[in-house]
Amino acid sequence: MSKQRADQKWVKPTPHKSGATPPKIKKESLPRHVALVMDGNGRWAKQRGLERTKGHEAGELALFDVVEGALEIGISELSVYAFSTENWRRSPEEVKFLMSFNRDVIRKRRDEMHQRGIKIRWVGREAKLWRSVVAELEEAEELTKNNDLMILNMCINYGGRAEIVDGVNALLTDLQKRKLKPGKITEKVFARYLDEPKMNDVDLFFRSSGEQRTSNFLMWQSAYAEMVFMDVLWPDVDRRTLWKAIEIYAERERRFGGAK
Ligand code: FPP
Repeated sequence: MSKQRADQKWVKPTPHKSGATPPKIKKESLPRHVALVMDGNGRWAKQRGLERTKGHEAGELALFDVVEGALEIGISELSVYAFSTENWRRSPEEVKFLMSFNRDVIRKRRDEMHQRGIKIRWVGREAKLWRSVVAELEEAEELTKNNDLMILNMCINYGGRAEIVDGVNALLTDLQKRKLKPGKITEKVFARYLDEPKMNDVDLFFRSSGEQRTSNFLMWQSAYAEMVFMDVLWPDVDRRTLWKAIEIYAERERRFGGAK
């Protein structure tokens, strides 16, 4: 029996307005960890003659519908790429908008996430990130730290290469302090130096908008992820899109380098 049913302590997800319910998929065929690249907000806004920022705002609704859908179908870990280490290259106005938007979304949504049993974790670099964003993230982490229904990794100021390089630097410091031995670094040891050592490997890597690339998201953790790219702009995504991606995933045969 799931933890939710065992004690009923969490507020159940709100059903989708269409009345849609999750597809019936065997538990062992479900992905444990789903990574989301929420791409296409700018194009969605442009198509409507709106500012790019309106696309991000519409993207927030899409994300939290997907979160509800993830809870309904029984995903245990969801990672979302909300701001990358490369997003600083955008116009100062958009960067400023995205920083305050991230901060406000976390503040606005954290109680709801808490009631639903979600543990929020921030994954990313502190350098350059607005202090107010870090403060909101830390508060959300503290509030939700004992929740165990689903983990929501908020990847903000995150980059896969940055994470690996930061890990190498931390590892070299431990090597100097003789906490580690040269030649004894295994994949398992190295993974302890990643931003979130407890993160599971990504099973399903989803990207919206029709672009087919990973854009430096969870490079280490996605080594054997199944990629699902869909030609739908992020603000048009909802939980049914996630369920479709999961159905596609469930049909795949995963071999992890082994033979059939
Ligand atoms: C990429 O679309 C999207 C982003 C850089 C921001 C994603 C953020 C959200 C969906 C809001 C959720 C908020 C939180 C705090 C998790 P794009 O701007 O690259 O779109 P384009 O490729 O069409 O220009």
